[in-house]
Amino acid sequence: MSIIRSVFKGCGAYLPEKVLTNAELATCVETSDEWITARTGIKKRHIAAEDQTTSDLAIAAANDALKAAGMTAEDIDLVIVATATPDQTFPSTASRVQAGLGMTSGVAFDIQAVCSGFIFALTTADNYLKTGQYQNALVIGAETFSRILDWEDRTTCVLFGDGAGAVVISAETGSGTSTDRGILATQIHSDGRYNDLLYVDGGPSSTKTVGHLRMQGREVFRHAVTNLASVVRDSLAVANMNMDDVNWIVPHQANKRILDGTARKLGIEADRVVVTVDQHANTSAASVPLALATAVKDGRIVEGDVIIMEAMGGGFTWGACLCRW
Ligand code: ACO
Repeated sequence: MSIIRSVFKGCGAYLPEKVLTNAELATCVETSDEWITARTGIKKRHIAAEDQTTSDLAIAAANDALKAAGMTAEDIDLVIVATATPDQTFPSTASRVQAGLGMTSGVAFDIQAVCSGFIFALTTADNYLKTGQYQNALVIGAETFSRILDWEDRTTCVLFGDGAGAVVISAETGSGTSTDRGILATQIHSDGRYNDLLYVDGGPSSTKTVGHLRMQGREVFRHAVTNLASVVRDSLAVANMNMDDVNWIVPHQANKRILDGTARKLGIEADRVVVTVDQHANTSAASVPLALATAVKDGRIVEGDVIIMEAMGGGFTWGACLCRW
């Protein structure tokens, strides 16, 4: 039975020029390269310039993805930006991206699921494409988390960075089997009971301020490994596949120990896990597409490979996307 599949046409990335190493951070807060490396695997993060906003990062990643896809902004009829650090409270960052790309038609909106945002955005775009409502979607994860960090809180400020990643997906006819290219299964979840474990202590309607990120790291860690392993298994079950069918796992780049713990629980070898957290720290919604773009550009992920992307973040939210590249 033929069905519509969302097929990946290209992916792109952008990291701001300014790099902040662990050693440099250790001159501002009481920490060390040894502690950060041992607990997280992070070596450095990129920080947006004063005059750079989330939409600037998103536009750069989007242009990179369009170039890789051999397409222009005129071909796109759906833009979704996943971000928890929008340029403004409104309008959406996506509408700024749409204008920045020179688009004069189509629809653009944001999705807010913090670190799971890219998986939520991809799931949303996939559903629109599958209904035939849109043809070519630009799905972007972009963040300037440096703007919501408490730079005096060593338990959080060492963990995050700024960046953006993007993919272009197009509606194409598939056979309806797991041999199709494109998105094969998506799963997203949220559980609002866990607000207090990972949140920002401000907002337009509560404090009328932007606020700072707050986190109970140990608790988040515990939930992350359990939820991620289970959502990966569920996605594989939907497509009647198992871990042996998967070439690459492309996880949310939160922390090397979460990546290792999840891989162990799933029984997947470390050399099939794409790891970039050492290079850019946790960039929230940008981290999955940044890792994806790295592994596609360096030739690890090739056409026909089965990959599973997964993420978990504030809310809690979590999800996975199984696809054939
Ligand atoms: N440098 C040096 N020491 C530190 C630092 C730091 N940056 N931060 C905390 N410490 C100290 C603590 O004060 C504590 O000291 P004490 O023993 O004297 O009280 C000690 O290190 C241990 O602190 P813990 O918080 O227990 O350290 P833990 O081993 O849990 O590691 C970490 C902390 C890295 C945050 C870990 O809990 C973690 O990775 N959690 C997951 C959080 C995460 O990745 N969140 C991202 C968003 S959610 C997501 O993306 C999935």
